[in-house]
Amino acid sequence: MDTITVRFIQPGPMGPRLDLEVQAVADGRSLMKVAVDAGLDAIAADCGGVMTCATCHVIVPPSWLPRLDPMSADEDTMLDYTAVPRQPGSRLSCQIRLRPELDGLQVELPQRQY
Ligand code: FES
Repeated sequence: MDTITVRFIQPGPMGPRLDLEVQAVADGRSLMKVAVDAGLDAIAADCGGVMTCATCHVIVPPSWLPRLDPMSADEDTMLDYTAVPRQPGSRLSCQIRLRPELDGLQVELPQRQY
C-alpha cells in the first residue's frame, strides 16, 4: 500500500505557514480522516464525513484541483454553507479520496470552520 505525504497550511499573520505534514496510506481514505486522526483541530468534521456539516472545508491550490476526483453536486451545494466563504479552490476534505497520485498534496485551511 502506497504511503503519501499531505500538507496542511494554516493562515498566519505573516502569510501562509506550514502547519502539519502527515504521512497517509493512499487507500481511498479521505483527507478529512487523515486530518482528524492527526489531531488537526482546524478540521472539525462534525458529521463524520456524511456531508452534512461543511466543517471540513479546505482550499486546494489550482495546480492540484485537476488531480482530485470531480466535485459532486451535493458537495457543490454544501460548499455554500462553509463558515468562511468558498473560494475557487474550496473542497470538502471528506470528499477528497487519497490515491498515490496525490503524493505531495498541499491544502490550505480556512480561518475558521464555524
Ligand atoms: S465532514 Fe461533514 S461535510 Fe465533510
